[in-house]
Amino acid sequence: MNQNFTKDTILKLLSGMSSEKEIRKYLDRFSSDDFRFAVIKVGGAVIENDLENLISSLVFLNEVGLRPIIVHGGGPKLSRALEEKKIQFSFKDGQRITSKEVLDEAIDVFKAENQKITSALIEKNVSAVSLIDDIFKCIIQDEELGFVGSIIETNSNKIRDIISNGGVPVIAPMGYTDKKQIVNINGDKATQALAKEISPDKVIFLSEIGGILDGSDNLISTINIKDDYERLMSEGWLHSGMKLKLKEIKLLLDHLPSNSSVSITKPLYLNRELFTDAGFGTLVKAGHHIDKLKELDNVNKDHITSILESAFKGKLDKNYFINQDKEYYVSGCSRALIAISHYQKIAYMDKFAVKADARGEGLGNAIWNRMTADHKKVFWRSRPNNSINFFYKNVCDGFQKTNEWNIFWIGINNLDELTECIRMASNQPETIAYEK
Ligand code: ARG
Repeated sequence: MNQNFTKDTILKLLSGMSSEKEIRKYLDRFSSDDFRFAVIKVGGAVIENDLENLISSLVFLNEVGLRPIIVHGGGPKLSRALEEKKIQFSFKDGQRITSKEVLDEAIDVFKAENQKITSALIEKNVSAVSLIDDIFKCIIQDEELGFVGSIIETNSNKIRDIISNGGVPVIAPMGYTDKKQIVNINGDKATQALAKEISPDKVIFLSEIGGILDGSDNLISTINIKDDYERLMSEGWLHSGMKLKLKEIKLLLDHLPSNSSVSITKPLYLNRELFTDAGFGTLVKAGHHIDKLKELDNVNKDHITSILESAFKGKLDKNYFINQDKEYYVSGCSRALIAISHYQKIAYMDKFAVKADARGEGLGNAIWNRMTADHKKVFWRSRPNNSINFFYKNVCDGFQKTNEWNIFWIGINNLDELTECIRMASNQPETIAYEK
C-alpha cells in the first residue's frame, strides 16, 4: 500500500487523539505478522444498533493494511425471531438448547447477520469473505443440547488463505459435523477456539457497553488478571454478566502468549483503543510478575543498569549502586523498574522506569501498585516537563513545584516531615547523564 496514503489516513482519523509516534508504534506492532493481528468478536447487539460505526472502524483498519478475523454473534436477534414464530427455546449453562426448529431459524438469522456485515464492508471496498459453517469442525457432545457443536478443530488454513489474499474473514457462530450436519455454536466459544488456534496479538470484544464497569459505572481502564482477578470476582458491585465475561477472558489469556491482550470496547472507539497508549475501553492482560530485590549481585546490577539506561536513554552513574540500602521492583519482562531508597522511615522513589514499548499495557500501574503495597509513605521528584507527571498528579496526595523539580508524595501528613522530604528530594544528586 502507498505509504503516504496510509500515513495520511492514520493521521486524519486519529489526529487529536495522540501523537504520531505513539500511533506508529502500534501500527508497527500490529503489522508485524499478517495473520496474528487480531480476532474481533462482534456482539449481536452491535450489528443491530451500531453497524455504521462498526463498518467505519473496520474500513479504517483495512486502509492501514490490517486484516482482523471477525467473528460475530446474533443471539438477541435469534431470540426475537423465535419468539415471533412462537418457537419454544431455553438455555442450559448459557448454551441455547437447539432443536431442529431452533436450528433452522438460527441458520437463517446468523446468515442474515453475517451478510449485513459482509455486504456493508464490500460496499466500502473491503474484500470481506462470508464464512457460515466452514471453519469449525464439531461433535455433538451433549445430546441434551440438541444441535449444539463442541469445536474439535478450527480450520485456520482457510482463514490464512483469505487473509493472504487481502481479504477479511467474517465468521458466523456455526460449525459442521463429520456427518455434514450444520450446528449452532456459542459465539464466545467460537472466539476462544479461534484465539487458541491463531494466538493473536489482540482479542477484541466489541459490545454496546464497551468495557467492564466499576461500582460507579465508570469504565475500568486496565485489568491485570494476576493482581485484580480474585478481588474483582468477589466484588458485590460487579454484575454477574461481567463476572462471566471476565472469567472467560481469564481462560482465554491462559491459552495466549503472555504479551497478548484482550480489549473490550465499542465500535466507535476501536481505533483509539488500538492505536493509543491510554486506549478507550477495558484492557485485560494476564498480568505482570514483579520481583523485589534487595541484595544485588553483579548480574542484577547489570540487569538494572540496562533497564534504566534504555528507559531513560542515558548513562547511569557508576556509583549508583554504592548505597546498599535500596530496594528494587523489577518486572519479570524486564521492561519496568522502581528503585526505592530510604530516608528515616520514609521511602524515596529514586527511579520509576517503564520502557517505551511497554507503555499502554498497564505495566507501569502494576509495578506502582506493587511498590505502594509495601510503602505507605513515599516521596519522589520529576522534571516539570516530564510526561509522566500526569500520572503522578493522579496518584499523589500532594505536590510542590520548584523551578527545577516537581516534588510529589503520598501518605506524608506531618508538616515537618514533609518539609524535610521536600528538601531531601530537591538535594538528591542526579544519577543519569543524558546524551546530548
Ligand atoms: N493500544 C494498546 C493496545 O491496544 C493499549 C490500549 C490501552 N487500553 C486501555 N483500555 N487501557 O493494546
